[in-house]
Amino acid sequence: MLVTPGVESLAVVIEEMRTWAYDPDLAALHVGDLGWNHQFGAQALAAALRVWQVDDRLAAVGLLDEPELLRLTVAPGFRHDEDFVRDLVADLDADDGRVLPAGEVALEARFGGPLHDLLLGQGWEYDEPWTPLVRDLSEEVPEHHLRVEDVDPDRLDDRLAVHQSAFDRSTFTAERWRALTQGPAYSRARSLVGYDEQDDAVAMVTVWAGRPGGPGELEPMGVARDHRGRGHGRAICLAAAAALQEMGCSHAFVSTASSNVGAVATYRAAGYEEKPQVRDLRRSAPRST
Ligand SMILES: CC(C)(COP(=O)(O)OP(=O)(O)OC[C@H]1O[C@@H](n2cnc3c(N)ncnc32)[C@H](O)[C@@H]1OP(=O)(O)O)[C@@H](O)C(=O)NCCC(=O)NCCS
Repeated sequence: MLVTPGVESLAVVIEEMRTWAYDPDLAALHVGDLGWNHQFGAQALAAALRVWQVDDRLAAVGLLDEPELLRLTVAPGFRHDEDFVRDLVADLDADDGRVLPAGEVALEARFGGPLHDLLLGQGWEYDEPWTPLVRDLSEEVPEHHLRVEDVDPDRLDDRLAVHQSAFDRSTFTAERWRALTQGPAYSRARSLVGYDEQDDAVAMVTVWAGRPGGPGELEPMGVARDHRGRGHGRAICLAAAAALQEMGCSHAFVSTASSNVGAVATYRAAGYEEKPQVRDLRRSAPRST
């Protein structure tokens, strides 16, 4: 059953999601994604969440990451539950706006079970490919050349400057930073900024650990525009892996649009293994009824 989560249930949803078995090779919706979206405030995050429960148990969580994109994950025990998945598909494919708006929409659903086939059977199609990349943390992470510091209020300006330089259309601000760090997922996260030999802030990353011993996510990662092509991307991805290893994670993972060849090359250079591509689903045809 689809329920409307309030601000007070954010921590409960995140704690419950942390307990779900997580396959980094698929890079499905992770607590880190909820954590990153907490930058818009608890109210906005709650409004962007779609939550399904069965007998008071959390069965599925969707995050409306863009107005027409829902990123969905389902509790392992419900992925192959035909009845539950059929009801879920009915909610996803409805155009009453409770889950997704009417018309053209995209869905990220990186898990097994009948969901894809049911949606494909209703006219949905596969969309652009994404590439998950995974670094096993069971062995020591190599050294690199950057001096890496945790972002604290004194280093916030450096972090923001690198972030804004790395992402053209960034809307990340100090206020968003503070909101992000107040979210429940940030209790197991770290933000890093990397400095080069001239002491310039050149690279940044935030890492999110899931459950203890589980995989941790990089979101976001970037290098300042004027400092690219000098190995700083590789270095900050190694620093991210080392930070997640310190936090007890089994793997560091990330996913990027396969078209972002620079990012894929950078993660690979840092020892992240490229995994088979995963695809979102898209409903493109306007509804005829
Ligand atoms: C992707 C990004 C982090 C790369 O940073 P960088 O400091 O230039 O990367 P590095 O110098 O460490 O390069 C690492 C490797 O990737 C390769 N690479 C980097 N950018 C590349 C590009 N645009 N096209 C092809 N290869 C590229 C380098 O040649 C190098 O390969 P090598 O080790 O085989 O020589 C940077 O371009 C960036 O911040 N982009 C915008 C933000 C972004 O896309 N983040 C990832 C989102 S998931």
